[in-house]
Amino acid sequence: MVQDVTMTAERVLVRPAAEADDPALLALDSAAWDSSSGFPSFRAALRGSFFTERAGPQSYLVAELGGDVVGYVKLQDKYQFAEGAGVLEVAGLAVSPTARGKGIGSTLLDAVATEAKQRGARKISLYVFETNTSAQRLYERHGYVVEGRRIAEFVIDGAPRTDLSLAKYL
Ligand SMILES: CC(C)(COP(=O)(O)OP(=O)(O)OC[C@H]1O[C@@H](n2cnc3c(N)ncnc32)[C@H](O)[C@@H]1OP(=O)(O)O)[C@@H](O)C(=O)NCCC(=O)NCCS
Repeated sequence: MVQDVTMTAERVLVRPAAEADDPALLALDSAAWDSSSGFPSFRAALRGSFFTERAGPQSYLVAELGGDVVGYVKLQDKYQFAEGAGVLEVAGLAVSPTARGKGIGSTLLDAVATEAKQRGARKISLYVFETNTSAQRLYERHGYVVEGRRIAEFVIDGAPRTDLSLAKYL
C-alpha cells in the first residue's frame, strides 16, 4: 500500500517500511518522544536498531517528505488468537519534531484506515496518555473515540499517569 499526498508545495509519500529505513527511524524515534507522550525508560534504553525480531519492517508504514523519512506508524494485530481477529492496534505513531503541523500524522492515520479496511479489520485500537492532548485531537479528528480510562496506570516523572484507550470502528 502506497499513498501519495500533495500538501501545499510538499509531497508526502506513505509506503511500507524497509530494512534500509532502520537508521532514519532510529534517529526519528529518539527525537520524537518526551515524557508527555512516551515512556522515559524506553528512551533511556540503548538501542542499536529500530526494528526488532518481533516488529520488523512489515509492522510499519513510513511517511517520506522530500525523500526523507519523517514519520512512522506501527500497525499490528492486537490479538494473536481467533476471537480477537479483526482488531488492529496502532502501537506507535510518531512524526519528526521538525516536520510536525503539516498533516503528516493525519496522512499516516488515513493510510492506517485504508490498510485496515484492506485487511478486513472491524476496529482499530490504541492507547494514548491523557497528557498527550495534541495526539488526542488528531485521533478524534480521525473518528477515534475514548473507550476507557486506565486511571493512574503508570508513574512517570514521579506522578501518576492516566492512559486512555481509543478506538475507531470500521
Ligand atoms: C502526535 C503526532 C504524531 C502528530 O503529528 P503531526 O504530523 O504534527 O500531525 P498533523 O500535522 O496531522 O496535525 C497536528 C496539527 O497540525 C495541524 N495541521 C495539519 N496540517 C496543517 C497545515 N498544512 N497547516 C497548518 N496546520 C496544520 C493540525 O490541524 C493539527 O492541529 P492541532 O494540534 O491544533 O490539533 C506528533 O506530534 C508526534 O510525533 N508526537 C510525539 C509522539 C506521539 O505523541 N505519538 C502519539 C502517541 S499515542
